[in-house]
Amino acid sequence: MSASSLSVPHLATSSAGAALPIALTNVTLEYPDGGGTIKALDSVSLDVAAGRMISLVGTSGSGKSSLLAVAATLVRPTNGQVAIDGITTADLKDADLTALRREKVGIIFQQPNLLASLTAVEQLMIGHHLRGKPLRAARGRAHELLGLVGLGASADKRPHQLSGGQRQRVNIARALMGDPRVLLVDEPTAALDHERSASIVGLLRRVTDEFQVATVMVTHDTEFVPLTDAVAVMRDGGLSNPELPGGAIHPATYSKGLF
Ligand SMILES: Nc1ncnc2c1ncn2[C@@H]1O[C@H](COP(=O)(O)OP(=O)(O)O)[C@@H](O)[C@H]1O
Ligand SMILES: [Mg+2]
Repeated sequence: MSASSLSVPHLATSSAGAALPIALTNVTLEYPDGGGTIKALDSVSLDVAAGRMISLVGTSGSGKSSLLAVAATLVRPTNGQVAIDGITTADLKDADLTALRREKVGIIFQQPNLLASLTAVEQLMIGHHLRGKPLRAARGRAHELLGLVGLGASADKRPHQLSGGQRQRVNIARALMGDPRVLLVDEPTAALDHERSASIVGLLRRVTDEFQVATVMVTHDTEFVPLTDAVAVMRDGGLSNPELPGGAIHPATYSKGLF
């Protein structure tokens, strides 16, 4: 067994004592494979503090999406612990897990999966509505967030009237509707050209800072890694060689997290 871990703490001491938005401890995930099993995650530990953003890189099949799925509480690990905002998830019933996810976790995948018949502002409101929140408040918040992602003038457009980059911005704004503590992002730029990719990663950096969320972004674009606070390299289900991009955070805070 190979244990690997990465910790990306907040630099400000004022946050000491606050619960970490996301903490994975010795997480192992096995999938059934014929008669045996595949170990998609092998004793991975990872935590990210509020306002920090990490890049998760690694070859195809190394376990990046599995790590996000477990962190999102969409998949329960075979072993190990996942804590969201200080709440340990292992003992939660499915319904409570779903509630926790809705309240604390924003999920952004490569394909925005917008509903064709809804306008941008409705895409944001529908989740809130389904959760039984008042529509008027949701509409105000949705407009605010669309403005924040640069789509203030496109609130009434439907997906086919938006570019790929704009659709991804709607996706990001939608993930922020529940005021999450954690943003989990899987290859958000895979379907975009270079210029749009840069502005999407820049936007994710900005919302991480502004909303003080903990962001984990799977990316193939190593060019954008310097915009993040740390990079975790996955190999065969484990984290290997976490490095600092441009010395963005104190190397000393890293030394304890490296194995
Ligand atoms: N639902 C699944 N059932 C069985 N095996 C899976 C499943 N999802 C992923 N795997 C396997 O787990 C490993 C890690 O996959 P994944 O997390 O998707 O990697 P990445 O996102 O880095 O490409 C791979 O060997 C993959 O084939
Ligand atoms: Mg993947």
